[in-house]
Formats: sequence, C-alpha cells, structure tokens
Amino acid sequence: MENVCGYATLKIEDKDVQLPIVVGTEGEKALDISGLRKNTGYVTLDPSFMNTAACYSQITYVDGEHGILRYRGIPIEELVKTESFVEVAYLLVHGQLPDLEQRKLFSSLLNVNSLLHEDMRHFFDHFPRGAHPMHILSTMINALAAFYPNVDTQSLSEDIDLSTARLISIVRTMAAFAYKKSIGEPVVYPRHDLTYCANFLNMMFDSSVAPYEIKPETVRLLNILFILHADHEQNCSTTAVRTIGSAQVNLYATISAGISALSGPLHGGANQEVVAMLRMIAEDGNIEKFIRRAKDKNDPFRLMGFGHRVYKTYDPRAVIIKKECHAFLKKAHINDPLLQVALAVEQAALNDEYFVERHLYPNVDFYTGILYRAMGIPENMFTVMFALARLPGWIAHWKEMLGGNTKIVRPRQIYVGKTPNKA
Ligand code: ACO
Repeated sequence: MENVCGYATLKIEDKDVQLPIVVGTEGEKALDISGLRKNTGYVTLDPSFMNTAACYSQITYVDGEHGILRYRGIPIEELVKTESFVEVAYLLVHGQLPDLEQRKLFSSLLNVNSLLHEDMRHFFDHFPRGAHPMHILSTMINALAAFYPNVDTQSLSEDIDLSTARLISIVRTMAAFAYKKSIGEPVVYPRHDLTYCANFLNMMFDSSVAPYEIKPETVRLLNILFILHADHEQNCSTTAVRTIGSAQVNLYATISAGISALSGPLHGGANQEVVAMLRMIAEDGNIEKFIRRAKDKNDPFRLMGFGHRVYKTYDPRAVIIKKECHAFLKKAHINDPLLQVALAVEQAALNDEYFVERHLYPNVDFYTGILYRAMGIPENMFTVMFALARLPGWIAHWKEMLGGNTKIVRPRQIYVGKTPNKA
C-alpha cells in the first residue's frame, strides 16, 4: 500500500487489529483507520478534527512547531522575494511555477476573463447599504454558475483552467465593484495594461475626479500580502471547499462555501476584529486590563490575531507581515497609533505566562489590518482581501480532490440522544 511504513497493533476487546502507519514526505506519521469500522465495528471520535488528517495532499506544507510554510515545496520567504501573486496562484493550481509561455497564457486568461457579466453588475444595486462585502461576495460567486458554464468533476481540464482564471480574475472585479457601490461611486472597469494587483488597486481607488496614482511599493506590498494568504492546507474554509466539492457541486458554489467559512471571526474575519480590538485598547489605554480579560474564562473577550490551531510558535506569515508593516509605514510617513498599540499588546502577551504556556503567538491577522489601513483599504474589505488571496488555494484543493477519487465527505457520530422506551 502507498506510503505505508509499518503497522501498529490496536487491542480492542479480545481482538488485535493491525493499523497501517503511513508517512508523508516530511516524515509526518499517521494511523490509517479507514478500515477500522469494517474490521471491528468501532469508529474514532475526534471533534473539530483536532487530530485527524482528512486527506493526502501535495499542495502546502505547514510545520506548526517550527513555523514553516511552503507551497509546493517552496518556502514562503523565498516566494515573496521572487514571485508575484499571479505566479504563486499558478504554482498552487498547476503544481509548478509557470515558464514564460505558461505565464503569458495565464495572464491573458486572467485579462480576458476579468469583466463581470453586465447583468450581474446590476445585482449590486439590490443589496442593502451597509451589507458586509463578504456576504455580497459569497452570493455573487454562487450566482456565477447561472451566467457561466459550470465546471464540476466531469469537466475537461481546459474548461477547468478557464473557470479557474475566470474566478481568480472576476472575483477581484466583484470585490472592487462592491466597494465602489458601498461608497456610492461609479464602478471602475479592469484595464488590460495593468498587472493583477495594480488593476485591483486601480478599480478600488481610481475615479474620474481623483485619478489614482499606482505606486510600485503598494503593488509590491499587495503581492506579498496575497502570496502569504494564498493557501494554508486544511484550514476551516479549505475543509469547507473540499467537503462541499466532494458532493460534486459546481466550482462556483464550492468557492462560495469557502468564502462563507472564511468570513467567521475565528477565521479570516479576525483581521477586521483585530483592528476593532486595537482601537478599543487604544481608546481605553489600559493594555493590562485587556490581557486580563483575554485570560478570564468567564469573559468572552479573546486577543484577536493571537493563537492558531497549528502554529505553536510565531506564525511565519506574521513574521514577514510585521517587518513589511514597519517598512511600509516608515516609507509612507504614516504614523498609525494602532501599530504602537499592537506592538505593546504583543510584548505584553509574549511575556505573560498564560500565553507562553499555551504557545499563543501573533497569527497572520495580527498586523495585516494595519497594513491594509495604510494602503487605504476600508475595514469591512479586510476579509474580502483575504478571500481574493485564498482563491488559488481553494481551487488547488478542489482540483486535487477531484483527481484523488475522493468519496463524498460524510463523518460518523456517536449518538447520545433519546432511545425508544422499551416496555
Ligand atoms: N486569546 C486568549 N486565549 C486564547 C486565544 C486568544 N486569542 N487563543 C487561544 N486561547 C486559549 C484558549 O482559551 C485555550 O485555553 P485553555 O487551554 O485554558 O482552555 C487555549 O488557548 C487553546 O485554545 P483553543 O481555542 O482550544 O485553540 P483552537 O486551536 O481551538 O483555536 C483559534 C485556534 C480559533 C485561532 C484561537 O486561537 C482564537 O480564537 N484566536 C483568536 C481568533 C483569531 O485570531 N483567528 C484567526 C486565526 S488565523 C486564520 O484563521 C487565518
């Protein structure tokens, strides 16, 4: 059997059961329990999948103990130095960085598919003012299936490639349109002469009365932020994508489910919550009080942007983002008081026994919001930025799942409810 490196013996009642031990390319070991119920009648119980590998995957490697994150074997530290977001998107979806020809073809697909169907543009008029853009985005993406040919498990690979490019490109247009609508300005259409990130910034901020100056350092920063958010193996939203996709739902509905999962404050929604929290702490001025509250089990307050299911050390994405945050704000002569508060909160938490014992460090969301603020991105768009960046990751996992003959995801449960009265 593939990846099996030995067997573990499990004693259940009076029976010895052999469980295959599988090993990944980075040495991670797991017990394959897929035959357990058939052989013994037992299932395993693991609420919230704290200890369960749901699949084999070749896309992203995370080592939470050592703070390592690699896409297709390449460290993120290297990717942010040498690649653009579009190249990293290609890497995730296709398995390797594009050569010149592949890059040209991918860029032209992104370009040609960047326009939103005009009939869909009018949908934006009917959302109530103040609707959260993540809700608008998940609805709009679901609606794409009604306007464009569906792709699902049976589709040809060229059709999947086309839909992949369409999604990556069009969702960026939708996000910018949603913002323009929310501030009552006419939408700005995508331009063929701009790169992916420059185009997005232009659609967000350009207007006929105040032309937007596209600064290379802002474009570079957006590329870095998008690269760092592009995938993170089996997180909550990716698990949603793989789960929904396993029912052979079309790609658009599947991605819409990922967006919904990402919007939660414990997941991608945390970047918006962090800024709200920092502002609250800044207004109050008493950091120690909030550290106390975060530790109090009777208080629902948590330090947003802190802690992670997998990282038990500093999140490697947060290391890069913190550094970029200092550099960008300095270069742009921005003195954001929230950065000082964030640094002081981090310092206080990292010196506090509660956080040390539980290995709670800043995660990717802790400094991201401060950078988005500096770029002029409004707070209710922070999680949308995360969603744009995560699209290639979701699509890569959806494709991998299709290729892996995955069965429909359907966990078991342990029923503890009422039983029929037996007379
Ligand atoms: N503030 C205070 N205490 C915390 C925090 C926090 N941010 N995070 C975890 N803890 C405590 C828990 O209360 C728990 O304490 P206990 O052992 O005494 O009960 C312990 O640390 C372990 O935490 P869990 O909640 O069990 O860890 P889990 O892996 O389930 O949750 C999560 C991870 C959701 C990220 C959590 O750390 C959290 O809520 N953080 C704040 C929200 C956030 O920043 N989310 C973004 C995550 S990154 C992303 O999704 C992109």
